[in-house]
Formats: sequence, C-alpha cells, structure tokens
Amino acid sequence: MADMVSWTGFAKKSPHERWQILEDNQALSQAGLDKLKRQELLPLETANQMAENLIGRLALPLSLAPDFLVNGQTYNLPMVTEEPSVVAAASYAAKLIKRSGGFKTEVHQRQMLGQVALIGLSNWQAAKKAILAHKDDLTQLANQAHPSIVKRGGGARDLTLAEKGDFLIVYLSVDTQEAMGANMVNTMMEAIAPKLEELSGGQSLMAILSNYATDSLVTAKCTVDLRFLSRNKEEAENLAKKLEQASQLAQVDPYRASTHNKGIFNGIDALVLATGNDWRAIEAGGHAYAATSGSYRGLSQWTYDKEAGQVKGSLTLPMPIATKGGSIGLNPSVQVAFDLLGHPDAKTLAGLIVSLGLAQNFAALKALVGKGIQAGHMKLQAKSLALLAGASEKEVPKIVQELLSAQHLNLETAKKILADLRAKRD
Ligand code: HMG
Repeated sequence: MADMVSWTGFAKKSPHERWQILEDNQALSQAGLDKLKRQELLPLETANQMAENLIGRLALPLSLAPDFLVNGQTYNLPMVTEEPSVVAAASYAAKLIKRSGGFKTEVHQRQMLGQVALIGLSNWQAAKKAILAHKDDLTQLANQAHPSIVKRGGGARDLTLAEKGDFLIVYLSVDTQEAMGANMVNTMMEAIAPKLEELSGGQSLMAILSNYATDSLVTAKCTVDLRFLSRNKEEAENLAKKLEQASQLAQVDPYRASTHNKGIFNGIDALVLATGNDWRAIEAGGHAYAATSGSYRGLSQWTYDKEAGQVKGSLTLPMPIATKGGSIGLNPSVQVAFDLLGHPDAKTLAGLIVSLGLAQNFAALKALVGKGIQAGHMKLQAKSLALLAGASEKEVPKIVQELLSAQHLNLETAKKILADLRAKRD
C-alpha cells in the first residue's frame, strides 16, 4: 500500500476529516470509503443468520492505527475496541518502531490441529501400531470428508499419536489455506473417528479441533532506538533497562504475566475483531501457549542491547487467522477492514496482528516503567475535554497543560480555561 501523506495529527481530526485523509492517502477503495461514510453496518437479516435468537446488533468503535511498517511495507491497521488509550498507544508505538526500522515477522508454519481422544483400549501397543500402519488411509479418509480444501491445495498433512493419562490421542495436522478451518477440521476428525475405533479396538470420546494451534506459530520482532525512549541519554538508558526488567518480571510472576499478556491482547483482539475472526480461539491459543513451559508467562520478551543502543522486542504465539470463511464475507465493516489492510493473505494478516500485539505491549511497558499508566490516560482525557470544549488544534496543548494541573478535570473546567485563554488573547 502506498505511503503518501503524513499521518501526524490524525488523532486530532473529526471522523469526517479522517475520511478525507483516508481518501487523500488512497488508503482504501472508493467502494470501501463509501461504506464507511454511509456507516453501512451488518444487516439485521444477515445477523439473524449468524447467531440464534437475534434481537438486535451491538456497535463498537472502529478505529485506525496508521503507519505500521511491517516487512518493509506500510499498513494501516483497523482496530475494534471499546477501551480508551489502546489505539493511541498502538499508533504511538508504531511511529517509534517505524523510525527504528519497523517490524519483521515470520510465519513458522500454518496448519491446524484436530484430535480424537480414544478410550477403553485393551492393547495400547497393538492399537498404536495399527493406527500408524494406516496413516495414509486415515489422511485420505479425512480429505475425502472435505474435498474442496484439497482442490484449493490444502488438506490433511500428518497424523501423530500421544498417550496422555487414560487416553490415546490422535492428532491430525491440516493445511486449511486461507480459512481458519474449524468446521473443516471438525468434519475430518468426525470422519476418521469410526476408523480409529475399528483400528484401536477402543471408543472415541470426542473428535474436535484444538485451539492450541502450535502448528500456526507466528513471530514479530522489532527494535526501538534509545533516542526514542527519551531525549535525555541517561533517562533513555534507565528506561531501556527497566523495559528489560519488566519483561523478566512477566516471566517469573503469573500475576504480572496475566496483565502483561492482557496488554498484548488489547491490540491483537482489536484487529482480530475488525477482521471478523474468532477472537475466543486466538485468546485460548495465546494463553495456552503462554503456559507452554508449565508456568504461565509473558508472551513477549524485551532486551536492552547496550552496544546497539536499542531495545529489542519479540513476540511469538499461535495465530490461526482467516481471510475467508465464517462471517468474514458477510459483514460490511469487516470488508472495509480488509480493504484498509490491502486484502492481505492469511500469513500476512497473522504477521500484522502479532506486530500490533508487540507494539501495544511496548507502549504499555514504556508507560508503566516511565511516567506510569495514569499519566497517559489523564492526558488523553484532558485532550478530549479540550476538543469537546471547542478548542482548536493550536489551543489544545495549552488547555491540556492547564487542565492537568487543575483541581477538577471536567468539561466545565476545560470551557473556563478556553474562555480565559481567548479573553487574554483578545
Ligand atoms: P504521548 O507521548 O503523550 O503522546 O503518549 P503524544 O501526544 O506526544 O503523541 C505521540 C503520538 O502518539 C501521536 O502522534 C499519535 O500517533 C499517538 P501524532 O499524531 O501527534 O504525530 N497518539 C494518539 N493517537 C490517537 N489518539 C490519541 C493519541 N495521542 C497520542 N488521542 C500515549 C500518550 C497515550 C500514547 C502514551 O501515554 C501511552 O502509550 N500510554 C499507554 C497506554 C496504554 O497502554 N493503554 C492500554 C490500556 S491500559 C491496559 O489495559 C494495559 C496494561 O495493563 C498492560 C500492562 O500492564 O502491560 C497497561
């Protein structure tokens, strides 16, 4: 996507002005822009097909975090979130990270896993031998149950076994191409379960996809130059050391790790939601991966490289994201989101989502080990009060400064400060 006009000050515009900036930047198609301007939402009839007992629809803010440099290309990321400061933090981090060279992503693999848990086996060794001897027949059977994915170049790839407690578990890896593949994998697992019972002499307790998508791991990495942490070299070094310590804290204390990861999911969920994907699946897989060592840990790592004068961040988690299937094609807002993203394929989208998670984590940690989280929140609140009071872009910084030292941070105070400022000037 073209990188044409500076996004500086995007936050201070009205939604109408932002649409104009999107148009000037050719950030999406004319059709997408029209959908945005018309505020075209999910039709009631479509919503009624998506979930049961429908009585209405619930709207959430659709925002944009512009100017993410990922693998040398610039992307504007749509975010759906109800939480103040999340989009500001993502935009802020994107800016610093772009100036430091951007994000690099790696999609390690992209396959989904299904499982059949077998119980009541009398001869485990014979069961395992029989199943492994029929591996090819079983993958073929799985593919026959969902021939359309095979036509698209995907399908069942491998079958493995594990003994866990009273269960012999059969795992099937499936290449689901652009789909998340839950239905596809479930169909395949149910199709092979009777054959597995026959081969093993046991019974299938259940046949289902696993959300612990360890065959869909994605890593995003970035660096941030010390000069962007603070203009003061000593303060910047101090912040860099503390960022590393904040990362270590999340490795040793699950109470902190949970909040650390919540901050990462502030970004991940917002883009997963905007693209109509199953955020419960992504959350479940991410949190399971955070506990992969046996203890629940922070998903990201930050280190201070003194010699390079940089902090280095890395985030890895399962990201079995889809660009096709489910409700993705049905929701006009989701179509706008894909338009804004430049219609990426599933691997590219997965890299963007993990990059956003890392950006979000960076902004939160920098605030936490620096001025504290509340300072940014108060500043944002003061800014929106200044704008609500009618301050112009030029007047906002002065109003914010005075509001932050005022006794009451409210609209009335903002209006009074603005009136006083204008009176002094006249
Ligand atoms: P700042 O340095 O005061 O920002 O930071 P600024 O006013 O100098 O603006 C710099 C850039 O930030 C702007 O550039 C924007 O890109 C962006 P410009 O456009 O001016 O050239 N920006 C905004 N973008 C959109 N709307 C805005 C806005 N303001 C700035 N209103 C900032 C201010 C809030 C960014 C900073 O203090 C921050 O990142 N704080 C962290 C906030 C955060 O992480 N919130 C998440 C919710 S808290 C939580 O749930 C997670 C947590 O518990 C996780 C954890 O514990 O790890 C914290």
